[in-house]
Amino acid sequence: MQDALGSPQSVLVLGGASEIALATVRRLIEGRCRTVVLAVRDPAAVADAADELRGRGAEVEVIAFDAFDTLSHPRVIGAVFDRHPDLDLVLVAFGVLGDQDDFDEHPEAAADAVRINFVGAVSSSLVVADRFRDQGHGTLVVLSSVAAERARKTNYVYGSTKAGLDAFSQGLGDALVGTGARVMVVRPGFVHTRMTAGMAAQPFATTADAVAEQIVRGLERGSHTVWAPPLVRWVFAVLRHLPRRLWRIVSAR
Ligand SMILES: NC(=O)c1ccc[n+]([C@@H]2O[C@H](COP(=O)([O-])OP(=O)(O)OC[C@H]3O[C@@H](n4cnc5c(N)ncnc54)[C@H](OP(=O)(O)O)[C@@H]3O)[C@@H](O)[C@H]2O)c1
Repeated sequence: MQDALGSPQSVLVLGGASEIALATVRRLIEGRCRTVVLAVRDPAAVADAADELRGRGAEVEVIAFDAFDTLSHPRVIGAVFDRHPDLDLVLVAFGVLGDQDDFDEHPEAAADAVRINFVGAVSSSLVVADRFRDQGHGTLVVLSSVAAERARKTNYVYGSTKAGLDAFSQGLGDALVGTGARVMVVRPGFVHTRMTAGMAAQPFATTADAVAEQIVRGLERGSHTVWAPPLVRWVFAVLRHLPRRLWRIVSAR
């Protein structure tokens, strides 16, 4: 059970190989978190990361999970809750960025990205919400993006998946008020991780560890929305209201 300071003792990470997620789990272990379940596409690929987390003092379980395979979500996620009653935190961290030129040429690749980033997140989050309602507590942390705030012509498929996910997560958070469960939406700007490797950094670029710090701070405060770095909240408060013609120029890179 989470303590009065909002410090979780157990966490399930959907997309457990994510660099932002692993940085967050490290910080949670520095607190009171002792049970970690990493749900990943390829369990062998996170063997070293799991050992490293064990070395920091957590019991770590690795399970196979594919966001794309929505039919499996009730069984796979339900089994984690059955093994770990009173799970405190679920972090929805999976996602693909993709390439807009590739999506333009191959609409089926765009549909796959939508299926992972949006459909998979909706499906898995609803399974989690149901179990949190039954428990009467639990926090769902969803990795959205500043890309959800306004679609850029250079990655509008990704941006639209995050806009859908962000709207869904806010609605779910409001629907859960009074149940003991809650949702925290995280909107990072450009983060230096595997996802953005080789790309030119955007203004206010940050690191996985800095995002993790904001996530843990948001949990402690009971926030419903976290921006990382915090300044991008105010930057996007302006950007989202720019006239379209100006936005096309500003968002072109
Ligand atoms: N990096 C940024 O600039 C940035 C900014 C804003 C928001 N975000 C969001 O933050 C989240 C984490 O991203 P990150 O930066 O930590 O990148 P990352 O290290 O590439 O993590 C993304 C993870 O998603 C997993 N994944 C992809 N498709 C999956 C599927 N079908 N089933 C299960 N897992 C799947 C990947 O698994 P594999 O290891 O198997 O490939 C990978 O571990 C993502 O939702 C991303 O959209 C990132």
